[in-house]
Amino acid sequence: MASIDSGIRDKGAARDKGAARAPAPAAPKAVHAIVGARTHFRRFTAFQRWVHFFIMVSFSALVLTGMPLKYSDKAWAQTWMGFIGGVDNAGMIHRFSALIMVACVIAMLGFFLKILVQTRGRFWGPGSMVPNRQDYRDLKAMVSWFIGRSPRPKLQLDRYAYYEKGEFWAASGGVTIMCVTGAILWYPEVAARYLPGIVINFALVNHSGGALLAMGFVVVFWHFFHAHLRPESFPMDKAMYAGGLPLEEYAHERPAEYERLVTQGKLDEVLVAPVSERHMKIQNVVWWIITGAALFLWAVFCIFVVWVTYNWIISF
Ligand code: HEM
Repeated sequence: MASIDSGIRDKGAARDKGAARAPAPAAPKAVHAIVGARTHFRRFTAFQRWVHFFIMVSFSALVLTGMPLKYSDKAWAQTWMGFIGGVDNAGMIHRFSALIMVACVIAMLGFFLKILVQTRGRFWGPGSMVPNRQDYRDLKAMVSWFIGRSPRPKLQLDRYAYYEKGEFWAASGGVTIMCVTGAILWYPEVAARYLPGIVINFALVNHSGGALLAMGFVVVFWHFFHAHLRPESFPMDKAMYAGGLPLEEYAHERPAEYERLVTQGKLDEVLVAPVSERHMKIQNVVWWIITGAALFLWAVFCIFVVWVTYNWIISF
């Protein structure tokens, strides 16, 4: 593997030399936070981070307003419903959050369309979300380690790991189902004009059960496990929040992508400078607030999943 230091540090030194010869031009306002050499790898663009933020907020609001509707006969749901302003308010917040989620889905579809046009329809390959043979091999090696049949494998991960691709497709399918069934519940009279009435019952059962699956399985176990609870990311993987991460860290975590970019001579295109110390301090405060809220919600969702499972078992 090529040395991480090569290139980046040289560029930093060259820039410093240049700065000594000529007076530095006034920094443009938009980049005042950028200082020093470009030592960070840009993992996510601002667009991807904003979409993630809005999905996170809207999904949490959808769960917090949908679940008390589903369990409206339970004391906890009635207390919570009173706290958020009653059934009408909950329905209103649910519908508003649903619109944000639908907007995120449309934005992501546009994003994929752009990639399709740019790659002329070739949306698979090393940096894409489409699973490949290597993902299967990685998954097999990890399962073998989990069940104690082999030592911990050293995965040569590319841009997206098998567990990220799995979550992405599970979440995409789930969100599509929630949007379609939610729209039917929102406008049942319109749906009944074109579809048999049983579709509305079907939509309610699917929406209601899908909500539990989305919250319990995809978010609580899957997403939180690898984005927050793995020792490498605890308490939260900063890349989705700050966009970039130190190159050394990235080269260690995603060696296959790093090597590919070095070999293709494209590493330079994805290097960014870290933000200034003052901005870092502000970022850290905001980061801890978001992380704290996420972990708190996770704990609440966990208790809820245990409660649902317990009730399900004793119902037999
Ligand atoms: C993916 C996140 C979502 C979750 C976790 C979720 C959760 C829920 C739950 C648990 C219920 C109560 C179902 C029951 O009574 O058994 C519900 C109702 C409902 N949901 Fe969602 N939902 C989500 C997304 C959506 C979307 C995207 C839409 C609209 C496009 C939507 C529209 C509705 C409507 C209209 C109701 C009926 C509300 C009422 O009775 O006032 N939901 N949702």
